[in-house]
Amino acid sequence: MRKLANILVTGGAGFIGVNYIRYMLEKNPTFTGRIINLDALTYAGNAASLCDIAEKFGGSRYVFEHGNICDSELVESVFKKYGIDTVVHFAAESHVDRSILGPRAFIETNVMGTFTLLEAARNIWTESAVLFHHVSTDEVYGSLGETGYFTETTPYDPRSPYSACKAASDHLAMAYCHTYGLPVTLSNCSNNYGPCQFPEKLIPLMILNMLEGKALPVYGDGKNIRDWLYVEDHNAAVWTVMQQGREGEQYNIGGENEWENIKLLNVLIGIVAKKTGKDPTQIQSTITYVTDRPGHDRRYAIDCSKIKNELGWKQSVSFEKGLERTVDWYLNNPQWIEGIRSGEYKNWIAKNYGER
Ligand code: NAD
Ligand code: TYD
Repeated sequence: MRKLANILVTGGAGFIGVNYIRYMLEKNPTFTGRIINLDALTYAGNAASLCDIAEKFGGSRYVFEHGNICDSELVESVFKKYGIDTVVHFAAESHVDRSILGPRAFIETNVMGTFTLLEAARNIWTESAVLFHHVSTDEVYGSLGETGYFTETTPYDPRSPYSACKAASDHLAMAYCHTYGLPVTLSNCSNNYGPCQFPEKLIPLMILNMLEGKALPVYGDGKNIRDWLYVEDHNAAVWTVMQQGREGEQYNIGGENEWENIKLLNVLIGIVAKKTGKDPTQIQSTITYVTDRPGHDRRYAIDCSKIKNELGWKQSVSFEKGLERTVDWYLNNPQWIEGIRSGEYKNWIAKNYGER
């Protein structure tokens, strides 16, 4: 097992990062070190998601640094100031639809930001370096037909600006391992869901639209397939790789839980109706088929036998339980929703989609 003392978490105010920091500090007794959360607080980041963590663990075990991973001076100063020995790199522009409408920010953060972090590690790390873990997506592998699975040896075939720049960042991380000997591991995960996910992604968008009586926009024929994993299971897998994964290796993480979008939506409607007393037939009547996303990948499905067999990780939260927890979280956190929906997000949605 690796000894990780000062972990730089990038993007720790976003969906998966927030849940990772909670998992590490509240649920993982094997971690006794300190987390330094570096986040630019873009529209997707919300420092308030962790205010209780800052109160409970502030200073000794948790520090927040507001800044951009593309700022090399800042990144290097953070490495030095906190004696960073480990990086877990979540920070990214992460929404496919936004990448289609405006790819520049994706190239900057996902490619240049990753490059800046790798350069800081290469310049500053000596023998004290433990690990640079790069968090990526199954979308780098492209789109599947009705059968087959992505394995770690599936050739990369990204099809959206988002997946293309995630693919570039994966290649950079591995190149730094092979060329400069940087201790790198890489994980590619399927679609996550859970608390604190920004309400532009399928599951939180649909939950909030149901609660507010708005239309439920389904792209194309609704038969695109995604493999869903509860966010805490993803974070447990990331931790497993960080502890035991072999340097220079790539690990697929997935839910083994494939759903057509329209079928998933109907399950979600059932859960929201049960918890709110709303009429499920009425909610169903708000489903609206809308123009498909350009280049919409048809199916993602992950073969995660490598991490299961080699490192002993497995999923622990069933889809039904995970969805129930997620709906409960959105029902119980109206202030978070109000906070994250104000400002830039509202303006952006209005400009690009009109009212949704
Ligand atoms: P998110 O969009 O919810 O959060 C991203 C975070 O990164 C935000 O807090 C944002 O403020 C921060 N950030 C963005 N640009 C930054 C910059 N230049 N400098 C510093 N911080 C910056 O994303 P997420 O869903 O939490 O995804 C996290 C990572 O996991 C990403 O790398 C993504 O590619 C990967 N991933 C996500 C999923 C998923 O289903 N969400 C699945 C597999 C992999
Ligand atoms: P999304 O949550 O954006 O994740 P990704 O595109 O990275 O897989 O979308 C998940 C699926 O849901 C995808 O097939 C697109 C579809 N979708 C809709 O049908 N309607 C929506 O409003 C959104 C946001 C997504």
